[in-house]
Amino acid sequence: MKIGNVEIKNGVFLAPMAGVTDRAFRYMCKKYGAGGMTTEMVSAKAICYGDKKTARLAYIALEERPCGLQLFGSEPDIMARAAASVFDLFSPEFIDVNMGCPAPKIVNNGEGSSLMKNPRLCYEIVKSMKTALDGRCPLTVKIRRGFDKDSINAVEVAKMCEEAGADAIFVHARTREQMYMPPVEYSTIADVKNAVKIPVIGNGDIMCGLDAVNVMKETGCDGVMIGRASQGNPFVFDEINHYLEGKAYTAPTSDEKRKCVKEHISLLVEDKGEYVGVREARKHVAWYIKGLPGSASMRNRVNLCESTKEMMSLIDEAFSTGESF
Ligand SMILES: Cc1cc2nc3c(=O)[nH]c(=O)nc-3n(C[C@H](O)[C@H](O)[C@H](O)COP(=O)(O)O)c2cc1C
Repeated sequence: MKIGNVEIKNGVFLAPMAGVTDRAFRYMCKKYGAGGMTTEMVSAKAICYGDKKTARLAYIALEERPCGLQLFGSEPDIMARAAASVFDLFSPEFIDVNMGCPAPKIVNNGEGSSLMKNPRLCYEIVKSMKTALDGRCPLTVKIRRGFDKDSINAVEVAKMCEEAGADAIFVHARTREQMYMPPVEYSTIADVKNAVKIPVIGNGDIMCGLDAVNVMKETGCDGVMIGRASQGNPFVFDEINHYLEGKAYTAPTSDEKRKCVKEHISLLVEDKGEYVGVREARKHVAWYIKGLPGSASMRNRVNLCESTKEMMSLIDEAFSTGESF
């Protein structure tokens, strides 16, 4: 599929997840078949202030591409300046606007999903970012179904964004009010798809290959975006690709999984240093070992890990026998 003038190998995207989709995570998801990656959300204001920590979040290496860089904010001129600036600094394949974050500290600032309460503002933001980018890279938006059950307006916002120049729309088919609670209303994705001409990518509770096939059939969307199903499971992209191509899929062996976790943790430590890397690795390892016999007690041990060496030997232990710890 294509987003603007950028070719994406397949329509299976990694969803932006703050605190999760860092460089190491994106690399692993690409390795196992994601067609498009996305950064964690990045503050447009902090970019404009030249904040170094924020700039680190926005860095994209060659091996994680194609990768979108997601910005959040609410002021059209700041979003526009930030878009031009991150393009110059990091050359993402596309820039995405966060119109879906439900976190109170974001919503109370009028950012994230709060933007959907004001479709005209969504239009202004996209328009000013497009002008600032001047065709240098495509611009996408990630929306929800609406802010709450009394304001279901995904179609209206999608049309406004398309009119303002958006090149694709990611639709998380829940309201902000729902946060991450069921149900996901896939009919909203179909409604948006029928209302706009640009690509529409469906998102929400797509956990496996069969889910992806069903959502694409049910809604007619052009691609799918995967969030939580990829945590501790980058193989989900390979599975989805197989299903979408109608091919038989074989899940990775325990040894393949062990190698994958170790590679992920090595990259994390390489990127962030041992102190931060090992601490951040704890949650990833806990996701990877979920469901293995004895994983609850293993998780407690993982949470006490202080060094890469200790973490690696726990991973070996977890995936060698598959027995209780
Ligand atoms: C830990 C976490 C962090 C998230 N951070 C972001 C974010 O930075 N930007 C964004 O647009 N959505 C964010 N989301 C929402 C996801 O991108 C996605 O829309 C949502 O999880 C639904 O997809 P899923 O059911 O496949 O997980 C986040 C979700 C989770 C679980």
